Amino acid sequence: MATGSGATEPPSSRASRLRLIVLLLLLLPVPLLARGGDAYAGQQVAAPDFYAEIRDLLNQRLALQDEFPWAPRPREVPGWPGPLPWLGEVSGVSVRPDGHPVIFHRGPRIWDARSFNASEQYQRAEEGAIPVETVVTLHRVTGEPLDAWGRDFFYLPHGITVDALGNTWLTDVALHQVFKFPPGGEGRPELALGERFVPGAGPHRFCKPTSVAVARTGQVFVADGYCNSRVLEFNARGRLLRELPMPEGLSPLRVPHALALLEGADLLCVADRENRRVVCPAAGLRVGDPPPGDPLAAALVHPPDLGRVYGIAARGDVVYAVNGPTSRQIPVRGFTLDPQAEEVLDRWGPVPGFASPHALAVCPSGRALYVAELDPPRVLKFDLRPPLRVRRSTRA
Ligand SMILES: *[C@@H]1O[C@H](CO)[C@@H](O)[C@H](O)[C@H]1NC(C)=O
Repeated sequence: MATGSGATEPPSSRASRLRLIVLLLLLLPVPLLARGGDAYAGQQVAAPDFYAEIRDLLNQRLALQDEFPWAPRPREVPGWPGPLPWLGEVSGVSVRPDGHPVIFHRGPRIWDARSFNASEQYQRAEEGAIPVETVVTLHRVTGEPLDAWGRDFFYLPHGITVDALGNTWLTDVALHQVFKFPPGGEGRPELALGERFVPGAGPHRFCKPTSVAVARTGQVFVADGYCNSRVLEFNARGRLLRELPMPEGLSPLRVPHALALLEGADLLCVADRENRRVVCPAAGLRVGDPPPGDPLAAALVHPPDLGRVYGIAARGDVVYAVNGPTSRQIPVRGFTLDPQAEEVLDRWGPVPGFASPHALAVCPSGRALYVAELDPPRVLKFDLRPPLRVRRSTRA
């Protein structure tokens, strides 16, 4: 009666296979709900183990999220850096080529509703520059201050970026300027862009510039900023090359608050704070790359719970981000983003949580991540080592 290979099969085996098929059909939607379930789809599993496999899979995904070894979840380093009683609002953080983090803080100064008037002019210039060292390197292991500079120069610190050669790029929203200091920092800036205390929108002025990104190929990108909502590209000597075109069809930026370069993917990611999204136009870094702003090369990450995204930093092709207070429904926390997939890979944070994270940075080795907070002022360190535990994943 039976034909083919079924004829040689004992009836008991046929019945158990039928049972397995029915089970698989019933459970088919379950692995699809858990992302990564495809790793199990083609695998032969004995029916009694099937539930356990599914349960394991779900637990693994929910509890550990370590399915992405190239994008490890940041794990807080408790007790680092120890008390820093002199710390003011920490607006920026970056990491030197030697792995020590550098913070940019406001000392006794704060940014409040009366700091600027309706034409974006700073109203406290007569108080003078901040009389304490505003740029402080902390030891990456002990957290102790290693060196400090930037006294009597800045009025309202915002962004800091240490480039691959050890130069420090700083933005001051009161001065409406961007500065480049040589390695070591002391002394006069090597480069000053923008006009001191004068907000503007032309080629030679900024308005509350927020952040700088520097490519290994030398290009300098400035997020400008709270009022102009544009990204400008300069050459290494500070000559304006262009306003970076944003992908076509996208609404204009609203407060580009931080930048992160994905040099391998040739994308410049922008924390588009008030639009609650991360926009990554083509950066056009190398000859032969898609031209800057090429809409086909652009990426957009816009999940509903991202909120006002303040800080972003790249680790390879992955972007770590922090949001700030947005609404009751949107928690303040960290995100791990895959811009090219336009996806959120993970959500994370310290215990018991962030208050007002403002910037973050990943060290050049990719092993640590730092978050700067305004109020209460603090700096947090997170490990980015992939977890060492042996995983059961079947992913190759
Ligand atoms: C803002 O302040 C500057 C001087 O600090 C003044 O010249 C300008 O008129 C003020 N703008 C407004 C709208 O009040």
